Amino acid sequence: MSNIAIFASGTGTNAAKIIEYFRDKPNIRVRLVVSNKAAAPVLELAARNGIEAMVISRAVFYESEALLNELRAREIDFIVLAGFLWLVPPYLVRAYARRMVNIHPALLPKYGGKGMYGMNVHRAVRASGDGETGITVHYVNEHYDEGDAIFQARCAVEQDDSPEDIAHKVQQLEHRYFAPLIEQLVSGGRPQQNEPSNHQK
Ligand code: GRF
Repeated sequence: MSNIAIFASGTGTNAAKIIEYFRDKPNIRVRLVVSNKAAAPVLELAARNGIEAMVISRAVFYESEALLNELRAREIDFIVLAGFLWLVPPYLVRAYARRMVNIHPALLPKYGGKGMYGMNVHRAVRASGDGETGITVHYVNEHYDEGDAIFQARCAVEQDDSPEDIAHKVQQLEHRYFAPLIEQLVSGGRPQQNEPSNHQK
């Protein structure tokens, strides 16, 4: 059995999809949800699904390695960042090298880095006039959105798409691709790279 921990700061629609996807899988389970916000809806989601949840403070996260002990105590094999807004400290990056991934709602290296999250990303894509956007899943390193990319999926940006329209298209890609990709990565399989021509309209 492989154990996954999901780190999330907000609503957790991706976390919900991941929890649902792995609910009946025999070999992989979501064992823990970690949030930096006590009021994050993702904590309720964990409770509804009988998954242990933990809120971490900035001090614990950055000034101790207590979280690492908690992860080890639960035999966490793989960490998924799904809308987790804090930069991951070096001790955790090292401990989970190539075993921690993040999903970003754009085609990195475009529209990444500090402050590039949520609607900020989609507004920037809209303002750019780019004809496509998408999602990137990447390994996590010590910099925002800079770890090696593993997978991208693309969608078209039409001229009359609003930032909200773009957000919706991107979220559809996230919900479709992220959980099966996590399964492949945790199982040690090689993920297939989506062809750039595979647009979701
Ligand atoms: C997603 O768009 C993801 O790409 C980004 O944060 C968002 C989380 O959304 N890293 P949700 O909380 O899963 O709905």
